[in-house]
Amino acid sequence: MCGIVGIIGTEPVAMRLYEALKRLEYRGYDSAGIAFLEEGRFKRLRAAGKLNNLLARIQETPSQATIGIGHTRWATHGAPTEENAHPHIAGSVAIVHNGIIENFQVLKAQLEEAGVTVKSDTDTEIVAHLIDQRLKAGEAPQEAVRSVLKMLEGAFAFVIMFEGEDDLLIAARRGSPLAIGHGDGEMFLGSDAIALAPFTSRVTYLEDGDMAVVRRDRLDVFDEAGRQVVRPLSFTQASALLVDKGGHRHFMAKEIAEQPDVIGHTLAEYVNFHEGRVTLPDMPVDLSAIDRITITACGTAHYAGMVAKYWIERLARLPVEVDVASEFRYREAPLKEGGLSLVISQSGETADTLAALRYCKEKGQVVAAVVNVPESTIARESDVILRTYAGPEIGVASTKAFTCQLAVLAAFAIHLARMRGCMDADEEKRLVKTLSEVPRLVVTALKQDAHIDTVAQKIAHARDILYLGRGINYPIALEGALKLKEISYIHAEGYAAGELKHGPIALIDENVPVVVIAPRDKLFDKTVSNMQEVAARGARIVLITDEEGARAHGAEAFETIAVPAADPFVSPILYAIPVQLLAYHAAVFLGTDVDQPRNLAKSVTVE
Ligand code: F6R
Repeated sequence: MCGIVGIIGTEPVAMRLYEALKRLEYRGYDSAGIAFLEEGRFKRLRAAGKLNNLLARIQETPSQATIGIGHTRWATHGAPTEENAHPHIAGSVAIVHNGIIENFQVLKAQLEEAGVTVKSDTDTEIVAHLIDQRLKAGEAPQEAVRSVLKMLEGAFAFVIMFEGEDDLLIAARRGSPLAIGHGDGEMFLGSDAIALAPFTSRVTYLEDGDMAVVRRDRLDVFDEAGRQVVRPLSFTQASALLVDKGGHRHFMAKEIAEQPDVIGHTLAEYVNFHEGRVTLPDMPVDLSAIDRITITACGTAHYAGMVAKYWIERLARLPVEVDVASEFRYREAPLKEGGLSLVISQSGETADTLAALRYCKEKGQVVAAVVNVPESTIARESDVILRTYAGPEIGVASTKAFTCQLAVLAAFAIHLARMRGCMDADEEKRLVKTLSEVPRLVVTALKQDAHIDTVAQKIAHARDILYLGRGINYPIALEGALKLKEISYIHAEGYAAGELKHGPIALIDENVPVVVIAPRDKLFDKTVSNMQEVAARGARIVLITDEEGARAHGAEAFETIAVPAADPFVSPILYAIPVQLLAYHAAVFLGTDVDQPRNLAKSVTVE
């Protein structure tokens, strides 16, 4: 995740870009840069390290330019050097970018074959060259950007500036957020409204697939199909709050939508996409010598731990014990000195998880924490922090923190497997490639939003709903049921699909919808058999599967929700999306307080 800004105004732009970047520093701060147009020509200032280094450059380079773009970086492709810092320039194109271009290696090879010299290790520079080539071929900026967008795979947001075009910025988004602020004869672009808050509170949020042509006194937005569209203008509270709903009705909706971006950011911290390997912080424990891992957490974080058990046991051949922290802390579990314990927590303040952490430390374990709030007690008391970069999660129901936890844990499982000699470099590369595709796949999964809304309305009047899953997606069934009950107050339970006939099947009748989570992995046929067992007893099935699964078995279901086909390794991250949306829309339909459901608190600091 990186922060991007653009300003096309009437006052000198350099310090304004800096001010906007400062507010985006939470998105990344390993290098930064700005570019502006001075008498029609690019001028660029970049610096490795924190934004202060860039500030020094800005201060020693006075400029009256009024149009510019800026970037604060969280490295995904290439080290955090000045050379790799944005903006990237190719010919008459300067660009800032947030996200991952998955097919950049192929595009880079094509450019190099055509004689283009690529200076940085980034995926971003490739996009600048591609647009520049189109301009040289005679296309206008807007056409050039549109043609290049069609060539790109991945999840991203861009702001692009053109030499000689003093009244034009072009922006585009697919998966990563982008807001456009309206001033008086000025326009501002930023990764979020917080960046724009010093300049304006009137904001238009681009939707997925949009491209915006921005001039000082005019904004034209085009959707993915190239049709001109009008996106609503909203008034943001960002300046007062520093977090806002980003044009969404609820924080939960915003946080669900942010997932491509924050998962990408989190992965970028632990995965070197360029080299196809996982890079985790050093741990004060010999990972090849430990004989098990103990994972403790609560609620949704506990389900992330359950998914990790499947990953770690399969990939690293290491036994994993997962427990809810409130049970573990009093269980007096025997733990070997020098072993490894993992705690997982969004807030980093959950009392039971903290107590479990302290118990593990008392027993001489090394404790690693997967945690979203780096200043939290759990982060401070752990030996190693594996931070999730979900950003502030305001909705009480955890969504983006969960999928970011999964992203970290997937990387951790690969790392463990490599350290323990259970995985070769080629397999690591393959899985890293699979992980790099996740932000894009999540974008596609989110496109089912409107359909899931109609499904949610059809089942929202049920008194009880069951969720079934198998293998690595069994925890997703548990998570789906938890999400639904906590915000819609519908009674829901998750079951391992194979366990149903050992009791819960007695609950089934035509009034009990059953949500079946069935990616086409090696357990697909077995899950389908379980689905048929409940369908035969009159249950209304909501089948969540991929398109091929839907083609094969959709007819047996009351409703089908299709998730993009993907390697089974990443299916828990993808299948988390529809269950979040199902709960969200059911709750909105029923009119409950989605962001602050009754009886709950975001941070459970009492046991
Ligand atoms: C469910 C939810 C809770 C939390 C649990 C742990 O949507 O948010 O179940 O997951 O209270 O909280 P953290 O992760 O802050 O330790």
